[in-house]
Amino acid sequence: MRVIRATDYDDMCRKAANILSAQVILKPNSVLGLATGSTPLGVYKLLAEWYAEGDMDFSETASINLDEYVGLAPDNPQSYRYYMYNNFFRHVNIKQENAHLPNGLAADKTEECARYEAIIRSYNGIDMQLLGIGHNGHIGFNEPGTAFEKDTHCVSLTESTIRANRRFFDNESDVPRFAYTMGIRTIMQARHIVLIASGVGKAEILRESFTGPMTPQVPASILQLHSNVVLVGDEEALSRLQRE
Ligand code: PGA
Repeated sequence: MRVIRATDYDDMCRKAANILSAQVILKPNSVLGLATGSTPLGVYKLLAEWYAEGDMDFSETASINLDEYVGLAPDNPQSYRYYMYNNFFRHVNIKQENAHLPNGLAADKTEECARYEAIIRSYNGIDMQLLGIGHNGHIGFNEPGTAFEKDTHCVSLTESTIRANRRFFDNESDVPRFAYTMGIRTIMQARHIVLIASGVGKAEILRESFTGPMTPQVPASILQLHSNVVLVGDEEALSRLQRE
């Protein structure tokens, strides 16, 4: 694993955006695995700025997001489709037909998971997966205790994740209880992984994930086995990882 130390959130975003932009410049038809949450917001903002300045072209790029809430329509402001559209897709020239998220309104959950895995396979896999990390070590919506060998599946969210996501909803009861997520196996098959983390609140879980035992209780700990992981963190987030 490579660790890239950033001074603060803005610096972390710049470094992560540089890595993603290099991927797209080197391979314009890259398949990017994308993430939602508060951490990647600054990364998408920079990529959109660089696109506006003429430095980036996403016309051949595909994106495949990690997850989506079950039951939310694409135009629901809390859906991840809406987040991606507003924070990234509408600012760049990625083709909408190449920008994939699970369909929160799919009638059959099992079929939806199979459809999503088939999309990933149809692109021959993900070149670079951007990941955030939850305070409980989740990646995507793979909560503690999830089997490492899962592909895209439907999960019920833990109380801790519901509480963490509550800030985006009017009431806790509005937070969906189920979500689609790429599985750990899907994530591990990405050729490169870029994990971003900011703030002291992520320091302990990063220490556990990268220096503790590999266990489904800390889903991100599986990343110790991936041969191409870059962790881009700011000083606070990396404060409990020793400098090698
Ligand atoms: P955050 O979420 O970026 O909002 O901290 C990360 C995650 O839960 O994966």
